[in-house]
Amino acid sequence: MKIGNFEINGYAALAPMAGVADRAFRELCIEFGAAYVVSEMVSSKGITMHDRKSDSLMQLGETEKSAAVQIFGCEPEIMAEAAKKAESTGCPVIDINMGCPAPKIAGNGGGSALMKDPDLAARITEKVVSAVNVPITVKIRAGWEEDNLNAVHMATLLEKAGASAITVHGRTRKQMYAPPVNLDIIRQVKEAVKIPVIGNGDIVDAKSAENMLKVTGCDFVMVGRGALGAPWIFRQINEYFENGTIIPDPPIEERMKVMLRHIKQLCENKGDYIGMREARKHAAWYIKGVRGAAAFRQEIGSLESYDQLESIINKVIAAANLI
Ligand SMILES: Cc1cc2nc3c(=O)[nH]c(=O)nc-3n(C[C@H](O)[C@H](O)[C@H](O)COP(=O)(O)O)c2cc1C
Repeated sequence: MKIGNFEINGYAALAPMAGVADRAFRELCIEFGAAYVVSEMVSSKGITMHDRKSDSLMQLGETEKSAAVQIFGCEPEIMAEAAKKAESTGCPVIDINMGCPAPKIAGNGGGSALMKDPDLAARITEKVVSAVNVPITVKIRAGWEEDNLNAVHMATLLEKAGASAITVHGRTRKQMYAPPVNLDIIRQVKEAVKIPVIGNGDIVDAKSAENMLKVTGCDFVMVGRGALGAPWIFRQINEYFENGTIIPDPPIEERMKVMLRHIKQLCENKGDYIGMREARKHAAWYIKGVRGAAAFRQEIGSLESYDQLESIINKVIAAANLI
């Protein structure tokens, strides 16, 4: 797939996920074969006001050659200025968030609220496109609500405004993250525009990735929650698409090793205090489905140190291997 002149080789992208898909997790997913990753959303206002947190959210790791920085906001001028700053960090693509359903974002006119104002969405896109040299992509939803599925209208306007690719999360804002995902609307968007379309929503394994491609005809797939506690999903998708082989999840020992590596990197990037607190949710995802997970999750909830995590993991492995 080509986003403007930027070439992406592979099949699947890691979705932008605030509070989750940070540098440590994105680089881990790349190691497992994610062909493209998108940063957590960054406030355009925060960027233009030199907010330290916004600056750090825009930082890409050494291995993030195929990555976008995602910005959100609703003021064309500020979005354009923020895009210039994002470009100066060296990211090869900038993505605009027009899908976030959170009241904090949509309530202020950004994210999915732009689905209700396609003309403003197009003006923002046009301004941002003309402010920078890197390609601009936009991530949208199926619509604001079921009665107004306007993804096709949005996508055609955004293409005209200069967007180089569109990601469609096949849900409405009203649905938040609830099923079902509307694959037909993604298919309709793909038919309506010439730029690449990235299909997103409920891809949890190689077969659901294949289904997204087959049903919608999209150019590329994007995996969100299916990668949480399971970064190896990208290896599984790649293996299936290249050789038709379904590979199982790694054994528990390997899964726990991956988790430890992930958390170690998280602590290196953010320091032990923040790292261990953020580790709690990741650890809970990594142990999902293992024997005795509920009890371990309680222990994980008060995780303070890396040593404590290692000792819980030993117990998780022992419990999983009990005959
Ligand atoms: C914890 C979390 C944080 C998210 N943050 C963002 C974000 O920063 N920007 C964005 O465009 N979408 C965000 N999303 C939406 C995802 O990118 C994706 O569109 C959605 O989860 C649907 O894909 P999935 O069914 O594969 O999870 C977030 C989703 C989750 C679960």
